[in-house]
Amino acid sequence: MSKEFHIAVVGATGVVGRQLLEILEERDFPVAQLRLLASERSDGEFLDFRGGSLLVQRLDEEAFAGIDLAFFCAPAAVSARFCPIAAGAGAVCIDFSGAWRIDADVPLVLPEVNPHEIARARGKKIIAIPGAAAAALAVALKPLHQLSPLRRLVVTSVQAVSGAGQAGIDELRVQCGELLNGRPCDAKVFPRQIAFNCLPQNGPFDADGVDAEEAALVHDLRRLLDLPELGVSATAVRVPVFYGYSAAVNVEAQGALSLPQARAALAATPGVALIDEPAEGDYPTPVDAAGQDEVQVGRLRVDGSRPGGLDLWLAADNLRAGAALPAVRVAELLFLGREE
Ligand SMILES: NC(=O)c1ccc[n+]([C@@H]2O[C@H](COP(=O)([O-])OP(=O)(O)OC[C@H]3O[C@@H](n4cnc5c(N)ncnc54)[C@H](OP(=O)(O)O)[C@@H]3O)[C@@H](O)[C@H]2O)c1
Repeated sequence: MSKEFHIAVVGATGVVGRQLLEILEERDFPVAQLRLLASERSDGEFLDFRGGSLLVQRLDEEAFAGIDLAFFCAPAAVSARFCPIAAGAGAVCIDFSGAWRIDADVPLVLPEVNPHEIARARGKKIIAIPGAAAAALAVALKPLHQLSPLRRLVVTSVQAVSGAGQAGIDELRVQCGELLNGRPCDAKVFPRQIAFNCLPQNGPFDADGVDAEEAALVHDLRRLLDLPELGVSATAVRVPVFYGYSAAVNVEAQGALSLPQARAALAATPGVALIDEPAEGDYPTPVDAAGQDEVQVGRLRVDGSRPGGLDLWLAADNLRAGAALPAVRVAELLFLGREE
């Protein structure tokens, strides 16, 4: 009989954790035991897995005994504290939070983009998954970089409220209800009203006015593409969309990027769905991308204002394509040697 694994999911009750359980089930990952962990708020809750109900337990230092693989889908402070504990207990940790991405010793892996990092990840106990916006951008931009090396990007990242977890989804729903009923609404999760609004802020600003999400996007993208000097100007905007991240991207390559070449390269890239018949109304939107495995790319056009210039628009499911699916693929590559 082939081997089955003892798996822990930290943050199982959150939006990423629930999506991860769905994907483990869909892809038939060989699970001997699944330990669902969350905060004391979820103590005693049950979640469905493979037709059964599993009890959610409170995370503590003893939770990783006998665990082979631990997915961390909880806040960064939880990963920072508990990944070393899980690793010390013998588990391989795959972390979704930003806690470990800036540590050069920790592999940052996105199977479609830098599969060679898997070799470095073998033998490591902590492996990081990139942020959802950088993941979608890297999948779409790598084939263009292979056509003509990228010189500079100008990115506007348009981010759904689910990027801020279940609390972000709840806040948009409640604010919409209040405002449609003519009542004022409170902002608790986001810094200002998000319903029927757009916020050019996703985290704290640094001394130069750069938002934390923008800094993380630039960092992860450079690391994934292995282009530490790539010029990237990023603006992250939170919009009243429940699921799906989008981005408007202006690409400047070192040489000319022809539209037919760019379209052919994108169409041939696993993990990309080219949807580019704008005259027919066919282009990516977050609503269409939600629930899909691919990064949808369209609205390709030459930017005639500079040599090597190209504009595009993309959309991807931030929970699925941007987070849970890459993490399960990393686990498949490490534990099953499974290739796509
Ligand atoms: N949402 C996205 O699009 C996305 C994409 C990529 C990466 N990520 C990252 O994935 C992680 C999870 O995000 P999410 O969107 O799923 O958030 P979420 O919906 O708010 O879920 C957070 C999860 O963490 C658990 N948790 C919170 N504090 C904890 C503690 N002290 N001890 C143990 N568990 C604790 C929560 O448990 P309770 O239910 O008990 O509170 C819940 O299960 C974050 O690091 C986020 O940055 C998110």
